[in-house]
Amino acid sequence: MIPRITNIQEYKSSYEQSLHDPDDFWASIAEGFHWKKKWHRIHSGGFEKGDYKWFEGAKLNISENCLDVHLKSSGDKMAILWEPNNPDDAPRSYTYRELHTEVCKFANVLKQTGISKGDVVCIYLPMIPELVIAMLACARIGAIHSIVFGGFSSASLSGRIQDAACRLLVTADGFYRGDKPVLLKEMADVALRETPSIKNVIICNHASLDIEVIAGRDLFWDQLMMHAETSHTAEVMDAEDPLFILYTSGSTGKPKGVLHTTAGYMVYAGFTFLNVFQFKKNDVFWCTADIGWITGHSYVVYGPLLNGATTILYEGIPSYPDWSRWWKIISKYKVNIFYTAPTAIRSFIAKGNDHLNGADFSSLKVLGSVGEPINEEAWEWYHHFIGEARCPIVDTWWQTETGGILISPLAGITATKPSFATLPLPGIDPVIVDTNGTILNDIVTEGNLCIRRSWPGQARTIYKDHERFMATYFTTYPGMYFTGDGCKRDSDGYFRITGRVDDVIKVSGHRIGTAEVENAINEHPMVVESAVVPVPHDIKGEAIIAFVICVKSVSDHQLLAEEIISTVSRLVGPIAKPERIIVVTGLPKTRSGKIMRRILRKIAEGHTEQIGDISTLLNPEVVDEIKWKTLAEGK
Ligand code: WTA
Repeated sequence: MIPRITNIQEYKSSYEQSLHDPDDFWASIAEGFHWKKKWHRIHSGGFEKGDYKWFEGAKLNISENCLDVHLKSSGDKMAILWEPNNPDDAPRSYTYRELHTEVCKFANVLKQTGISKGDVVCIYLPMIPELVIAMLACARIGAIHSIVFGGFSSASLSGRIQDAACRLLVTADGFYRGDKPVLLKEMADVALRETPSIKNVIICNHASLDIEVIAGRDLFWDQLMMHAETSHTAEVMDAEDPLFILYTSGSTGKPKGVLHTTAGYMVYAGFTFLNVFQFKKNDVFWCTADIGWITGHSYVVYGPLLNGATTILYEGIPSYPDWSRWWKIISKYKVNIFYTAPTAIRSFIAKGNDHLNGADFSSLKVLGSVGEPINEEAWEWYHHFIGEARCPIVDTWWQTETGGILISPLAGITATKPSFATLPLPGIDPVIVDTNGTILNDIVTEGNLCIRRSWPGQARTIYKDHERFMATYFTTYPGMYFTGDGCKRDSDGYFRITGRVDDVIKVSGHRIGTAEVENAINEHPMVVESAVVPVPHDIKGEAIIAFVICVKSVSDHQLLAEEIISTVSRLVGPIAKPERIIVVTGLPKTRSGKIMRRILRKIAEGHTEQIGDISTLLNPEVVDEIKWKTLAEGK
C-alpha cells in the first residue's frame, strides 16, 4: 500500500520528516510498491554533476506494478474506460485482467519484431487504448517509449525519431478530431523518409481510413496480436534503467528529449496521484490531457494504474458534437476526480452556461487544474459550476522534467486559495531566488522558482545530451534546479506560479519554444529573420505574435501571414501557429546582436510605457516603427 496522508498535521509532519530524514521518508513511500529486489541506497549524487540516482540496486518492472499486482484482488475491476470521439461509436473498456493480457501480447509482438531492452520505440497514436497497451508493453520488455503527440507535424515526428534513433514506430491509420480526419499514417510516411533507424511500423486500423502500405516495413496491429502469446514474463529492470523519453520545448534550440528512469518515476507518480487527488479505491478518475504530454503519462496512465484506479481515456475534443460532451462523459461514467487545464475551463466560460443544462456532477469529489496559471475567474467558475462549491480544487504545479506534481494542495486537506498552487509536496524543497540567485527568505516575496534538492521523479538527463541538461537546469543558479517559472509567495507561505520567465510560451497549456517557431517561420522564402513573443489571450492563456523581417516589401500582407502560419503548422504543428504576423524592417537588438524579446513583449502587450531605456540598443530607431505597426497592422 502506498502511504496516504490523511490530514494537515500528517502533511506537516511528513513534510518535516521528508526534509530532515529524506532517506527514511522515501524508503517508507517506496515500501508501498512491488520490488523484485530492494535498493541498497535510497539516493546518491547531486545537482553539481546532475548525477543523482534513486533506489539504486533495486530491481522491478513498472508494468507489473501497474497490472500484475492488481490481478489477484481486482483483476475484474475496470482499468480503462475508453470513450470514442463520436458518441455514436461503441465505447471500449478493459479490466485489469484484460489489459494485462493485451499488454503481455503486445510485449510478445514487440519481441518478435526484434525489439529488446534499451531500444527506443516511437509511439504516434491517437487517444485509444492501444496507446496505453503499447507504452506498458514497452515498459514490460524494457524498451524505452518515446510518445509523440498526435497533433505534431511530420517534421516534428521525424526530428524526434532521428534524435532517439527509434527502431520501431507504432501508429494508426488516423483518427477524427471532431468531424475532421487526421491522417496519422500519411504524416508518418512523410516523416519516415528521413528516419533510416526505423525498421518497422505497426499500424492500428482505427478509423477505416485509406492508407498506403509499404511491404516489408508496415505491419498490422490486429494481425500481429491475433497470433501473439498471452503470457509474458516481465523483464527485470534496474531502478535507473530508462523508462521513457518525452520531448519538450525549451528556451533555445530543438525540443529536448527529457529522460525519466524506472523506479524514481514510478514511486513519484504513484505517491503523488494517491495523495494529491486523495484517490480512494473505487474512484473513477478522468484526466483530460493527451497521453502525448507528461500529464497524460503520469496521470492518465502510470499514476492511476499504479494505484489500481479506473482511468478514463477520451479520444475527442471538448466541443464535439457540442460543448456538453465532457459533462455527459462525467455523468455517464460517474467520474469522481476530474483533472483538466485552465484553458479548457476558459473555453467553456466563453460559451455561456447553456452547455451545463442537464449535466449531473453529483459523482464529482475532487477537481484538478494543470498546465498553466489558473486565473481567479476560471477558478471560481470551475469551483461553482463544475464542483458545485463542494469539491476542492487542486491547482497542481509541475513540469515534464519533474515527472509528477511538486506544488499542490492535497485535496480536502490543504486549504485552497484561487490561483495558488499552495504548498510543496513532501520531499520538495522549493526556494524563490532573485536574478542573482540569492535565496529570498522573506515569506512574502517574488522571484524565480528553484528546487533545492532532488526528488525521485526528477528527469535524469536530456537524451544523449547531458551537457545541455546541465546548462538548461543547473547552471543559472548553481546548486539548484531552475524551473524557468516566476513565482510569488504570500503570508501563508503559499506559492503562486506566475508563468515562464524564459522563452517558453504556454499556448492553451501546450509548451512551445520561441526558437522552434522562429526556425519554422524563417523557412518561408520571404522571411529574413523573425522573433516570436507571447501575448495574453483570454482563452489560450497566451498566444503567439511573430515579428518578421522580409527580403522585400510585402504587397499582400494577408497572404504572407497565411503562408507563414501554414508553414509553422506544417513544420511544428497546428498548436504552434502564430496569432498575428507583424512585418517590420528591424528587430531590437543588443550590441552583441541578441534580440531583445522583452521589448517586443511589452509592445505586443500594449505596455509601451514599460519598455524602459532603449539607448543601449544597437538600433533604437526600430522601436517606434514596431510600436506603430503593432498598433496598426493585421489586428
Ligand atoms: C506551467 C505540464 C501555473 C509552468 C505539467 C511550468 C503551471 C510548465 C502549472 C510546464 C500550474 C504547469 N500553475 N503554471 N498549476 N502547471 N504550469 O512541461 O510554466 O508541459 O513550467 O508540464 O507549465 O509545462 P509542461
